[in-house]
Amino acid sequence: MLTALTRAVSRSLASCELTWLPRSIIDLDLANEQHKQYEQSLAAMGIRVISLPEQPEMPDAVFVEDPLLVFDEIAIVTRMGSPSRRAESASLAEAITPFRSVRTLLEPATLEGGDVMCIGRDVFVGLSSRTNEAGVEQLIRELQPFGYRVRPVEVRGCLHLKSACCSMGDGKILANSAWLDIAPLRDYQIVEVAPDEPGAANILRIGDAVLMPAAFPQTQEIVRNEGLAVRTVDISELMKAEAAITCSSVIFEA
Ligand code: GLY
Repeated sequence: MLTALTRAVSRSLASCELTWLPRSIIDLDLANEQHKQYEQSLAAMGIRVISLPEQPEMPDAVFVEDPLLVFDEIAIVTRMGSPSRRAESASLAEAITPFRSVRTLLEPATLEGGDVMCIGRDVFVGLSSRTNEAGVEQLIRELQPFGYRVRPVEVRGCLHLKSACCSMGDGKILANSAWLDIAPLRDYQIVEVAPDEPGAANILRIGDAVLMPAAFPQTQEIVRNEGLAVRTVDISELMKAEAAITCSSVIFEA
């Protein structure tokens, strides 16, 4: 069944890394409540949720997508581009060990899971401020033996590739094409986010439905018009830490 690893919000979240947003006050109680609702949304969509304990000293540790990639064959502990976040990996490696054999990316690679968009055997990797070419090369070496095609994609103006685009399933990608080079995605149909909602491309397709932040009603309508059921969750406090929908879980078959 589909399984998600998640992690409780750190009490130090207010000290999170920020790349594109100015720092603003985060209501920690509300962030915790919104994260619980996020976990409940995953469960309501049929996913078994394994919730790991808080890492109090690691502000960004709730964003478990970045330190760990899970494929059907292996798990890969990334080497995050943000040095302050590298300590997050150890407990995630431990959590995935019962499910997958674990590989590790090494210096000089940097790569964060938010930069990795998997669609079947196509793996697109954002070249961003967090992920470098050595990261892409090491990922190719790990995944080619299993038949994955790994391709780099230039990202600009946002944190990660999946800030700019995410799979909608059915051969479609929801994107803000101002934030990436869409040429490597030429085999897919691009569906643009609403012009007033540049940050709306990050979605999670589960079964016939899509989980999206409550903040993007116009793009929700676009997704509905593509024939998908839309479920929303309010993650406004987590978004102040540059969170999106995908980054608070790692989802895999187990
Ligand atoms: N605050 C999320 C990150 O910068 O990684």
